[in-house]
Amino acid sequence: MTTNRTFTMIKPDAVENGHIGAILDKINASGFKIVAMKLTQMTLRDAKEFYAIHSERPFFGELVEFMTRGPIVAAILEKENAVEDFRALIGATNPADAAEGTIRKLYATSLGENAVHGSDSDENAAIEGSFHFAGRDMF
Ligand code: RTP
Ligand code: MG
Repeated sequence: MTTNRTFTMIKPDAVENGHIGAILDKINASGFKIVAMKLTQMTLRDAKEFYAIHSERPFFGELVEFMTRGPIVAAILEKENAVEDFRALIGATNPADAAEGTIRKLYATSLGENAVHGSDSDENAAIEGSFHFAGRDMF
């Protein structure tokens, strides 16, 4: 079963580099409606919980340090087939492998600092969206 909502973050590198506007433009131009959005900064505790699935990976320390070093934009997006279509719009995890025109190809700096997050399943979209927009029934 697929839902019509997904969760995204514009990561600290893209915020630092002034790409919030361009990325939101691209999201809208690709047919996604923004149904919730905020500028926020994750604490170390937040980032460790959010990325708990990667806690045993060698890059975990780097990942949580990166994700907490500055503000992010967290948002819930709506479109038919949202999860899959948004993963296609952001492109491969490593910008070197990302297709032309994808957000990571355009704005990511490296594998670790790759500009945007996109939920990888409907289940995770609901978990991640609720993490950032607690108390709101978004899914
Ligand atoms: P995301 O969850 O942020 O949307 O990214 P993803 O699904 O494309 O990639 P995932 O495997 O879930 O990895 C999460 C984030 O960890 C960082 N990473 N660094 N240095 C490395 O080898 C490495 N590998 C992954 C990236 O920021 C990646 O987006
Ligand atoms: Mg992921």
